[in-house]
Amino acid sequence: MGNKLLIKHAGELVTASGGVKSGQSMNRLGVIKDGAVTVEDGVITRVGTTDEVLSQIDVTDYRVIDADGKCVLPGFIDSHTHFVFGGYRMEEFYWRVSGMHYMEIMKRGGGIASTVEATRKAGKEELKRLGIERLNSMLDMGVTTVEGKSGYGLDIETEIRQLEVMKELDEEHPVDIVPTFLGAHAVPAEYRENRQKYIELLVERAIPEVGKRKLARFCDVFCEEGVFSVQESELILQTGKRWGMKPKLHADEIANTGGAELAARIGAVSADHLLKVSDEGIDMMAENGVVAALLPITAFSLREPFARARDIIDRGAAVALATDMNPGSCYSNSIPLLFALAVLYMNMTPEEAVTALTINAAAAVDMDDKIGSIEAGKQGDLIIISGPSYRYIPYYIGVNTVETVVKKGKVVVN
Ligand code: NIG
Ligand code: FE
Repeated sequence: MGNKLLIKHAGELVTASGGVKSGQSMNRLGVIKDGAVTVEDGVITRVGTTDEVLSQIDVTDYRVIDADGKCVLPGFIDSHTHFVFGGYRMEEFYWRVSGMHYMEIMKRGGGIASTVEATRKAGKEELKRLGIERLNSMLDMGVTTVEGKSGYGLDIETEIRQLEVMKELDEEHPVDIVPTFLGAHAVPAEYRENRQKYIELLVERAIPEVGKRKLARFCDVFCEEGVFSVQESELILQTGKRWGMKPKLHADEIANTGGAELAARIGAVSADHLLKVSDEGIDMMAENGVVAALLPITAFSLREPFARARDIIDRGAAVALATDMNPGSCYSNSIPLLFALAVLYMNMTPEEAVTALTINAAAAVDMDDKIGSIEAGKQGDLIIISGPSYRYIPYYIGVNTVETVVKKGKVVVN
């Protein structure tokens, strides 16, 4: 019995199979009516109709879950978050509500700098405790893998502490964590008069240290007017690459600086935000297989226009959706809100939105060979929702429809 799980009678079994999808193919979800799936030792072994799967196994060997007509999907992947941080920025939220701009707060020494101060003060145990709370909330909403960034230390010691916290949480918590080094999130206050020195610190000391200790899979930069230029970003990301970290980029969020073009040129795995991306940037991303990770809750929270999801998809790029969970621009890890915004305000189809949170999100963390779809050989990360169809998720606006979460073949939420 032990390690064998069967889920049967899924009203719809959404496989999201066939690899990362770009452009129109994002609508191809691969739905099996009255579907079933088996997971053995954490790995998916059979996928088909309930009749097909039952004819292949001795059911007495299995723990059986009857989905009873409910919809089964791959676990969601949140491919862009900053979930390890100390302190909150509640005051700032209300400053923004009353009209102050996000970048204005940052220029005045608030914003990221304020979280840096709190994160430097927080001990490892405190960061872990907060991390667990946030991971629990994500898991309840069906997130089985999360990418998490450093970037609230901006000194070697605290950046490494954030990455170590993620490593320990990855080992101790059911949610898998993909760590990203974001030392280039902002220039810290002590280097404000000498930004070149901070870039040297990143390139000569921090990146090699993180690289040697294999603490991060990706290197990311906040490439933005007044933060890091395209040229600076390129140097940092190329250095990351040499130390074994694949590039990612916060690109063209507040202003168009050519971030998407840079992502394409250097072969980034994803370029994220893209509120102000140009058509040329989109085309270059599509040609070079850079995943466009769109973060609608951030645009919503900053009251900025949403990313042009339709144009990005229609021009042939692969779109992922992620929350961007962080204490400033987007204090939310709400998957239901993400679906609502994507479908109601970005005109994504429900099929595209599901693709963007499963197989394309897996591609955004370079793990589409392991997770993101229900196919034999993939990790057994699955969810059962409270409705009969994936189309129920965006329709039930802002409400969590996830009832059961299976991680590596084990039921972790029920
Ligand atoms: O992705 N844009 C830069 N970084 C984060 C915000 C971080 C913060 O405000 O603390 C983002 O939106
Ligand atoms: Fe971010």
